[in-house]
Amino acid sequence: MDIKIVHLTKVFADKDQAEVRAVDDLDIVIPSGKLIGLLGPSGCGKSTTLYMIAGLLSPTDGQIYFGDDDVTKLSPEKRGIGLVFQNYALYPHMTVKQNILFPLQNLKVPKVEALERAQKVADLVDIGSLMDRKPRQLSGGQQQRVAIARALVKEPDVLLLDEPLSNLDARLRLQTREEIKRIQRETGITTVFVTHDQEEAMSISDEIVVMKLGVVQQQGKPQDVYNNPVNKFVAKFLGTPPINMFNAEIVDGKVMIGEEAIAEVPFENQEVEVGIRPEGFEVVDGADSGAFSFVVEQIEFIGRDKSIVARHPNCQTASFRFIIDADIQGVEVGKTIRANVKPNKRYIFHKVTEKNMELSSPEELEVVEQVEELGE
Ligand SMILES: Nc1ncnc2c1ncn2[C@@H]1O[C@H](COP(=O)(O)OP(=O)(O)OP(=O)(O)O)[C@@H](O)[C@H]1O
Ligand SMILES: [Mg+2]
Repeated sequence: MDIKIVHLTKVFADKDQAEVRAVDDLDIVIPSGKLIGLLGPSGCGKSTTLYMIAGLLSPTDGQIYFGDDDVTKLSPEKRGIGLVFQNYALYPHMTVKQNILFPLQNLKVPKVEALERAQKVADLVDIGSLMDRKPRQLSGGQQQRVAIARALVKEPDVLLLDEPLSNLDARLRLQTREEIKRIQRETGITTVFVTHDQEEAMSISDEIVVMKLGVVQQQGKPQDVYNNPVNKFVAKFLGTPPINMFNAEIVDGKVMIGEEAIAEVPFENQEVEVGIRPEGFEVVDGADSGAFSFVVEQIEFIGRDKSIVARHPNCQTASFRFIIDADIQGVEVGKTIRANVKPNKRYIFHKVTEKNMELSSPEELEVVEQVEELGE
């Protein structure tokens, strides 16, 4: 069952009546059986979106469809959703089994069937042997899996997860996110996974939706969004180490960083910003070839790769960081190195709109003149 979100908007009115547009005209389709990662910095409207899908918050505007049904005004219980919050919110005085059974209490599920279902979801999340323990006798990861089992026991059509891993340590986070992916695949349940952690979203999601200040920036397969970011915000938000940004200028169709032309583009002369992914440099032998030069400041070995901190010699941009194969010889601290910039790893951003110029139509890059308001 697809979830379709149309013009969804939530405006909170503050005490002093200032408006917060937490979610602003959101249009997304969540395909049936997929796991969608809703991603963005703190305060961008992820939880608000999720709670509107759940029915815990009512939208100011817009509609939510589950399949063909408009559920915008439907109460949470009638939506067939399972919800998992950041803090597991288990009942401490109840056993694991009682916690998982709890959502079935008000439904008239016969006892034998309820127990069977509880055991089945507990086995699915791999806590089937812990049914008689109390939550305090479990690790954080196990508690979170109880919360997921409790969300699944009603056999919902939709699973909504709000930062479900943020209370776990690094190793458990990794393990539990793989677990969530496996459970999602096995059950085929349509899932929305909210996180501010880009790496988490990239690794677990069939598609990601990147939000900023209540507005969707881009939706797509993680690799496609990473490779083709529509604007500077998306480019900077995805990837570790982060993308390197340089002030640059287009002169006669050449993209100049300092004195060096690193690419050719069909745009008029103007100032731009260039983003180059850390893996976008190809070190070349010989002092005079290679479009881009830099001075090596620091080298770190990270397994297969070398991570290099460097500075462009004739450009005021701060140090930048990139990754090359550990086998590449001749890269030493203090040396000036030349590299080519891989065309599919560099992006040209419009100075004012911050859009990826090569993915934008001329109209999209037009700067709307702001009419300046004259003060009294
Ligand atoms: N009940 C409320 N009243 C007023 N403003 C609110 C309310 N709930 C949320 N907001 C505001 O709406 C915006 C979006 O909040 P939301 O909780 O959806 O962000 P988020 O993306 O989930 O952030 P985080 O990653 O920190 O959880 C924020 O600016 C927040 O301050
Ligand atoms: Mg939140």
